[in-house]
Amino acid sequence: MDKAQQDALKKAAGIEAASLVTNGMVAGLGTGSTVRFLVDELGRRVTDEGLSFTGVTTSRRTQEQAESYGIRIVDIDDVDHIDVTIDGADEVDGNFNGIKGGGAALLWEKIVATNSDRVVWIVDESKVVDTIGRFPLPVEVIPFGAGHVIKRFEDRGYHPVLRKDAAGKEVRTDENNYVVDLHLGRIDKPEELAQDLITTVGVVEHGLFLNMVDKVIVGDPQGPRTLV
Ligand code: 5RP
Repeated sequence: MDKAQQDALKKAAGIEAASLVTNGMVAGLGTGSTVRFLVDELGRRVTDEGLSFTGVTTSRRTQEQAESYGIRIVDIDDVDHIDVTIDGADEVDGNFNGIKGGGAALLWEKIVATNSDRVVWIVDESKVVDTIGRFPLPVEVIPFGAGHVIKRFEDRGYHPVLRKDAAGKEVRTDENNYVVDLHLGRIDKPEELAQDLITTVGVVEHGLFLNMVDKVIVGDPQGPRTLV
């Protein structure tokens, strides 16, 4: 599948998911290229159909895009609930275990998802896998002492790589932390790994989202299909 085909599938999933947002709702808006299509469609509905809802975003990037359409964005602590959050994912398996954080927004994404009544992921078909782990698992790490955390991950055989941008500078998250990508190949025991990561001092959050999603909308060449 080339990029144009993949984008078409992402767009179809994003447009399909936009219909889940209705007037008066509080909606969590994820991050990434698939979510960009979702926000484009929500923006179109705000303009063309007078859709009115409140958004909570999982990154400054998504906030900027949403606000450019006149969508009202508030701080997560200014709402008492989030009706539905729609986000992308890097991989998802048949048990709805997934990897997120390819766009370095995993911490806010997990906080928003945890505080949402419903969570929906939008993915193209290439993201649906039998076993997660081929996509490098992002881990958000405090910069202070990050070298030691990376060493620990090396000792545990996790093949960590500190994420850098094209200029060779460490990528920073919206919380100013680093991202370390673990090249695991496959993850057979995600719960055990999640427990190991989250109890490592210096780790803020990891990109394993285990059983946190209610529905996955898959962009497929035959049209979007929904997994529940
Ligand atoms: C950002 C994420 C994204 O949702 C994930 O990387 C999918 O991105 P894309 O839609 O661009 O493939 O987790 O942190």
